[in-house]
Amino acid sequence: MGPVQERCKCGTDTGGNQMEYIGNKTFWDEKFQNRGERILDPEQSLIDNIGYFNKGTVLDIACGDGRNALFLLRHGFKVTGIDFSEKALERLRCFAQKNNLTVITKQIDLTKDSSLNNIGIFDNILINHYRLGNAQLKELKNHITDGGIVFVSGFGEEHKVDSRIKKEDLIQSTDFEEIYESFDLIKRDSRQDERGYFVTYILKRK
Ligand SMILES: C[S@@+](CC[C@H](N)C(=O)[O-])C[C@H]1O[C@@H](n2cnc3c(N)ncnc32)[C@H](O)[C@@H]1O
Repeated sequence: MGPVQERCKCGTDTGGNQMEYIGNKTFWDEKFQNRGERILDPEQSLIDNIGYFNKGTVLDIACGDGRNALFLLRHGFKVTGIDFSEKALERLRCFAQKNNLTVITKQIDLTKDSSLNNIGIFDNILINHYRLGNAQLKELKNHITDGGIVFVSGFGEEHKVDSRIKKEDLIQSTDFEEIYESFDLIKRDSRQDERGYFVTYILKRK
C-alpha cells in the first residue's frame, strides 16, 4: 500500500518531515494550523512492527494529524484518534475524508487522570511520540482486549534533552514496571538517527 497522497488544504506548506515534541495546547494548535498540506510519513517503527498488531480496532493516543492513524486505516484497521488539539483532529478528518477513509476522532486532554475513563475497549493501542502519565498507563488494561497490543514508541531516555524536549518527555524503561502484572513485554527496540534516540515497546495484554 502506498502513502496517503492527498493534500489537505487545512494548512500551508512549510515542508520538512521533522517531528516536534510536547508543548501545550496553544503550541500544538499553532503547529498544526501552520503545518504543510502533506501528511508526514508514518512512524518507521510502526511500519516495521505492524505485524504485531491484532486485526480490528486501534486507539491512537495523542494521534496528532494522523500520519499513523491514516496508515492503519489503509491497512484495514478501525481507528479512533484522540488528541487535545482540535486543529490536529480537523486535519486528520480532512485527510481521511479525501482518501475515502472513516476515522473516529475525540478531543481529549490527557493531562486529566480520568481522561480515558469512557473511551471503550480496543484490540490495539498506539502511543507514538507521547508519554502517557502513570495513572493512564495503569488504566490501559481496562481498555484493551485480552491478548491486545499496546505499541509505544518515541524519544527514549538516552535522547539529548534541550529547550524543546524535556527530560519528562522521554520514555523511561521504568515507565512500564507497574503494568507488567497485566501485560507481557514482547518486544523492546531502540535506534538512533539524526533526529535522536528512539525506543519502541510492544506489550501484550495477559
Ligand atoms: C509529537 S506529537 C505526536 C503526534 C502523533 N502521535 C505522531 O506520531 O505523529 C504529540 C501530540 O500530542 C498531543 N498532545 C500533547 N499533549 C496532550 C495532552 N495533554 N492531551 C492530548 N494530546 C496531547 C499534541 O497535540 C500532538 O498531537
